[in-house]
Amino acid sequence: MSKASLDSSVPVIADAATLRPTIDVARRAGKVIGLVPTMGALHAGHISLVEASRRECGLTVVSIFVNPTQFGPGEDFNRYPRTLQADLEMLSGRDDCLVFAPWAEHMYAHGHVTRVELDGPALPWEGRFRPGHFSGVATIVLKLFNLVGPDRAYFGQKDYQQSVLVRRMAADLDVPIRIEVCPTVREPDGLALSSRNRYLSADERERALSISRSLRLAATLVRDGVREASAIVAQMRAMLTQAGLRIDYVAVADRDTLAPVTTINGPVVALIAAHVGGTRLIDNELIG
Ligand code: PAJ
Repeated sequence: MSKASLDSSVPVIADAATLRPTIDVARRAGKVIGLVPTMGALHAGHISLVEASRRECGLTVVSIFVNPTQFGPGEDFNRYPRTLQADLEMLSGRDDCLVFAPWAEHMYAHGHVTRVELDGPALPWEGRFRPGHFSGVATIVLKLFNLVGPDRAYFGQKDYQQSVLVRRMAADLDVPIRIEVCPTVREPDGLALSSRNRYLSADERERALSISRSLRLAATLVRDGVREASAIVAQMRAMLTQAGLRIDYVAVADRDTLAPVTTINGPVVALIAAHVGGTRLIDNELIG
């Protein structure tokens, strides 16, 4: 589909050369610039970030780009939902927004060789199961920061490890930006909204509820005084396995370093990645 022929009430920009002057006009008019990076297939979770930005910023740039460098071999890059027209309809009526939907060839020009590399909190959990993933995320996010030059950027707690690493990267590389992390938006039954939920059959969706249930179980156990992380992880794993999920990891970790915690003495994050049929889902909960 030609991006020029899209039917949208929100302006859609596909090339950086047009993006810059448009944002410069807003900035000169004194507007605070907000950025909401997404891979599209927008849902209410993404929209919550857009609304958070709109509350604080005069111009909100929503980027929509299925970033090839953050997908590993055998992952779902090819089948990842691309629903640009529907995404624009979800954003319609918001005249303080613009969509930046670049072509892959523009974002990664022929001959590109530079990537952001991360250590420490990038290594466990997602880092272990998706090698190269966070390097791809950090590289595209830094490129978007440089292209848009936003005052603030909005991320979801849904991708907890990603949010920690984006904060770290911005601080480590001196990006003058404020990173906001917004709460996870869930279905009424607890399932965290995700673009990948559309892969789930009715039966898989039901079984996927074990993810948010086991996170709530972890919170309850901590509230009831259980302090031994391994006991909590064991009960979470049992709940997921009983629902037929294939677990990548279940963890109780430090909120900043993401190192596993043995004894819970303060705030922690519980993290899950698991496969329901052919779909890999992640979720987390702040506890304590
Ligand atoms: P994507 O999965 O499209 O998510 C875009 C943003 O929406 C992320 O910050 C994510 O944490 C947030 N989000 C997703 N589901 C959410 C939910 N249920 N509630 C609240 N926020 C939610 O994350 C990415 O894209 C990419 O890695 C990206 C940062 C765009 C880089 O390519």
